[in-house]
Amino acid sequence: MRAVRLAASDDFEGWRDAARALAMIRVAPEEVVWQVAGEADLFEAPAPAPPALPGAFSVPRAFLELAEAVVCHRDPERFALLYAFLCRLRDRPRAMEDGADPLLRRLELMAKAVRRDMHKMRAFLRFREVADDGGPRYVAWFEPEHHIVRANAGFFVRRFASMRWSILTPHLSLHWDGAMLTEGPGASKAEAPDGDPAEAVWKTYYAAIFNPARVKVGAMLKEMPRKYWKNMPETALVPQLLKGAQARETEMVAAAAARVGDNVGKSWASIRDEAMGCTRCELYKCGTQTVFGEGPLDARIVFVGEQPGDQEDLAGKPFVGPAGQLLDRALIDAGVDRKRTYVTNAVKHFKFVRRGKRRIHDKPDGGEIAACRWWLQQELALIKPPLTVALGATAARALFGKVVTISGLRGRPHELPEGGETWVTVHPSFLLRVRDDKEAEYARFVEDLRTIGKRAKALA
Ligand code: URA
Repeated sequence: MRAVRLAASDDFEGWRDAARALAMIRVAPEEVVWQVAGEADLFEAPAPAPPALPGAFSVPRAFLELAEAVVCHRDPERFALLYAFLCRLRDRPRAMEDGADPLLRRLELMAKAVRRDMHKMRAFLRFREVADDGGPRYVAWFEPEHHIVRANAGFFVRRFASMRWSILTPHLSLHWDGAMLTEGPGASKAEAPDGDPAEAVWKTYYAAIFNPARVKVGAMLKEMPRKYWKNMPETALVPQLLKGAQARETEMVAAAAARVGDNVGKSWASIRDEAMGCTRCELYKCGTQTVFGEGPLDARIVFVGEQPGDQEDLAGKPFVGPAGQLLDRALIDAGVDRKRTYVTNAVKHFKFVRRGKRRIHDKPDGGEIAACRWWLQQELALIKPPLTVALGATAARALFGKVVTISGLRGRPHELPEGGETWVTVHPSFLLRVRDDKEAEYARFVEDLRTIGKRAKALA
């Protein structure tokens, strides 16, 4: 029997190095005991894992990604299960392709649970302001289900780079002083502050963005289990908001059902809910949340933008920032009612690079556009708009499935392979950036929208 002692509950590197070395000398999975330092020791002095030998076998990147997530699962068997699958991969390099393998399935479910927990921590953790000698400091309490705190640290450092904060959890605490991240021991809820004036701001913000059409109590409880509610000031508002929302929602649902049929609404809501946990590309690690499309499901026009920007990422709604305000103005000038259109994006997570405190938009690449195209196609398949508008080159690429130029396609209708008519125009952010002939460019954009509005009426 061999024992491997890992440095921490989420010690991926420790597991990887030991597992690789053991697999190479063909130590059987049942001959290895995996221990985490500080947890109950079964062996007094475990034999160290052998050093890796030359000529190591390689494993698919997808396995390493899976293992990195699974290692964070709270199941004490996680290291052993991963090692058993690694041995399988050593002997059958295509083992990852066997969708019927129960061990692989179990590992995938564990990885999914971990990713979900990471998402919950990002979405439901709430900082409370406290003052210390160095000025304001923000403290949050969170109880994860899995060992995800360290794996999520990078997200919070990037997202709240300019604040001084601490995240307290039962097994580990993180402290960021604006420049350096340090770890401390676990804490108790009593050590975290309760309510504070910053909560008033949160509550106002939450009430402002609360959308009755988005409330599904069952889904809300699934996504936001009650155990997180007590740490979230805005949830105190939920019963009251729900009460008012129910009346508004009944009206909205009745109107929508009369127009598009109940099933379309239900399918759209479940696709949107599914998209909230999307990991089809790496961008889910970057943005705060998935920003799904919005608008009536019987819209005659669907506008497709590129990707959410900084403000959209925070609000969870498309086109609410500067480009969205310009689009609103141009639609008014063109006589098109935005409320009767559906607005979405080719890519549903915000991609950015950080420069100091700012998050600067970064263009999505072909792989990201292709991965997200799945959601766009679902939206279009449900709405079946007579007319779809690509705002800019990324949207056009997503709709046509290939790289196209705006100048080559602008000003006339095109047929999509899936049916329906598509028009192409510039992205409103182009109008914010352009220096020459700004007014003429804006007028041309308005003219495009006016033509599109008339054409949509004619097609309906
Ligand atoms: N730009 C986009 O393409 N979409 C948005 O939602 C915001 C800015």
